[in-house]
This record gives sequence, structure tokens and C-alpha cells, in this order.
Amino acid sequence: MGIRVIGTGSYVPDKIMTNADLEKLVDTSDEWIRTRTGIEERRIASADQATSDLAVKAAENAMEMAGLTADQLDGIIVASISVDHVFPSTACIVQKKLGAANAMCFDLEAACSGLLYALEVGHALLTAKKHLKRIMVLGAEKMSSLLNWDDRNTCVLFGDGAGCIILEKDDSTEDCFIAGSLGANGEYSDILQIPAGGSACPATQETVANKEHFITMAGQDTFKLAVNSMVKVCRKVLEEAEMDASQIAWLVPHQANYRILKAVASRLKIPEEKVYINVNRFGNTSAASIGICLDEMVRGDHIKQGDYVLLTAFGGGLTWGAVLMKWSYIPKTAK
Ligand SMILES: CC(C)(COP(=O)(O)OP(=O)(O)OC[C@H]1O[C@@H](n2cnc3c(N)ncnc32)[C@H](O)[C@@H]1OP(=O)(O)O)[C@@H](O)C(=O)NCCC(=O)NCCS
Repeated sequence: MGIRVIGTGSYVPDKIMTNADLEKLVDTSDEWIRTRTGIEERRIASADQATSDLAVKAAENAMEMAGLTADQLDGIIVASISVDHVFPSTACIVQKKLGAANAMCFDLEAACSGLLYALEVGHALLTAKKHLKRIMVLGAEKMSSLLNWDDRNTCVLFGDGAGCIILEKDDSTEDCFIAGSLGANGEYSDILQIPAGGSACPATQETVANKEHFITMAGQDTFKLAVNSMVKVCRKVLEEAEMDASQIAWLVPHQANYRILKAVASRLKIPEEKVYINVNRFGNTSAASIGICLDEMVRGDHIKQGDYVLLTAFGGGLTWGAVLMKWSYIPKTAK
């Protein structure tokens, strides 16, 4: 019995915000943003688009590739920090919009590592539960709704979008999940966070006036921890798989920042041409980024059948993870 990816999908909003647009909002420059982050532009959802709307578009693309109807889904997991509401879960709203009446639904929060956490959980559920056959894993974010547009330290970094991966259990296939590892360290929970709005600090007029409902970040600490954690967890996963980095066809890191991706690849001795990068076009889309990358790679014919693909992510929490997959199947509808 194995689990394989039968469809991928992604969606980014039409509206492009360039670095030049940001120059009009905060004291920054295209040159600063490009050299420090590699980001040239990002997508911004419209006021009437919620995270679930971005997720549904990515989900529809993935279902089309997989040749599935929504009623064939047994589960929907949405990884997101920009959920539609505290509750109900965004996964339930996605279910309603798709008409996926047979799916159990829940959200999973592991910040930018969310998609990898959701893939591992989805894989574990399919493995453990006989009656589950197909689980849709989504990473979806309207990061623009969490940004303080007066804070140049953060507002230049993020963008909106959604990525989707549909997992299917099949008796006649090998498991495409070769190895995986997830980790966390709550000691650093305050370096990347939204201070108010939860039970620890409920919304008041004061928290709103102080802009405490937006992302705050200690940039340099985050940078160092991101590189170290991703390198460490990738090495662990390669060791578990008894594989060498030279066997990896593609490294697909969470698209936080070009300098972070470059540092991780260099320390793993993976050449840059094997690293998938789209942070220049979309910025950091948090839990969505790896799903968007994978969909571009499948549709753009970058991933070939049999390729070893190493996914790695890092995010608030702190959280991190790596998943090594052997891409065993590419639907004809991907082209
Ligand atoms: C945010 C980041 C790009 C900043 O780069 P950096 O080289 O560390 O820059 P610093 O934090 O040292 O800031 C240098 C200066 O640039 C300023 N600066 C910050 N943002 C700026 C911006 N958008 N435009 C212009 N200047 C900016 C700072 O205020 C600081 O000025 P000062 O020296 O007068 O105080 C970098 O730390 C980073 O990428 N961190 C990781 C962020 C991340 O990926 N988070 C998500 C993880 S999932």
C-alpha cells in the first residue's frame, strides 16, 4: 500500500504589488528589498477575497488535474495563519464552497511550516485509517490581512496565495513519502508572532490602536534560526532515507527569502539550479509557498516521474520540517 500525489493546484490573486508600489507606502526602496530578500513583487487579494476563496481556487485546479469530484474527498486539511475566522475552521468553509460533503475537515497551524505539517498528518491519517482514501492538503494565506502596512520590517516580505496537494492511497503503488521530520521550539515563540487577538491578549480598543493584531518579527534572529533549522532537519531526513544530497533532483524550500534559500542550499551542497525559487514573484506566502512551487513544477514539467524532491520549511512557533518524496506519478492532465 502506498500514498501518492494525484493532483496539485495553486492560485494567486491577480493584483500585483511591486517594490515600487511599496516605496509609496513606507520608507524603503526596490534596491533594499531586492538585495535583502530577492523579492520583486507579490500578489495581494482583493477586499472581498478571504483565505478560503484562494484555497478553493487552488483546490479546484488540483481536482481538475486529479480528475476528481469534490464528493470523492475523504478529508480536507487547511494549513494557514490567516484563517477566515477563529472558528469555524477554514477547512469547513472550503468544504462548503467545494461541496465536499464526505470530507472530515480541520485547520492546522504551524505558520510557514504548515503545509509540511499537514502533508505529514495527511499521510499518517491515510496510513492509519482504512476507510480514508483521499485527503486534500491546502496551504492558503491572505497574509496582506495580517500586515501592518506602516511597518517596513515586515510589510515588504509577504504575499497572498494558495497551494493544494491531493493525496491518494493506492494498493498497487509504492509510497511516495520516503522520509519526513517535523520539529518545534516554543522558546522562540515571540520572535515571529501576532501579539493580540487570542485568549492571552483579547482584542480591545487599545490593542487595535497599538496595531497589535499584525505580524511582528525579529528579522535577524529569524534568519539565523531559519537557516540552521532547515539545514539540520534536511540532513536528518536524508540520513533516515540513507540518501545523499547529490541524489536530490529538487530542493523545494519554503520561499521566505532568497538569501535564506541560498544559504540552506549551499550548506546542504545542493547546487542552485536544483533549488526551486519563485520568491521573486510572490514573496513569502507562508503555508502556501511550497504548494505553489510544487504546482508550478508539475505543470511546468520541472519535476519528472521518479525524481527525489526534498521539501523543507521553517516558520513561527518556531516550527520546522522536511519531507522527502519520490514523485511516483504525474497525471497526463498536468500538462
Ligand atoms: C528582514 C530581513 C530581510 C532584514 O535584513 P537584515 O539584513 O537583517 O537587515 P537589518 O534587520 O539588519 O536592518 C538593517 C536596516 O534596514 C532597515 N530596514 C528594515 N526593513 C527595511 C526596508 N523594508 N527598507 C529599508 N530599510 C529597512 C532597518 O530598520 C535597519 O536600519 P537601521 O540599521 O537604521 O536600524 C532579514 O533579517 C530576513 O530576511 N529575516 C528573515 C525574515 C523571514 O524570512 N521571516 C519569515 C520566516 S518564515
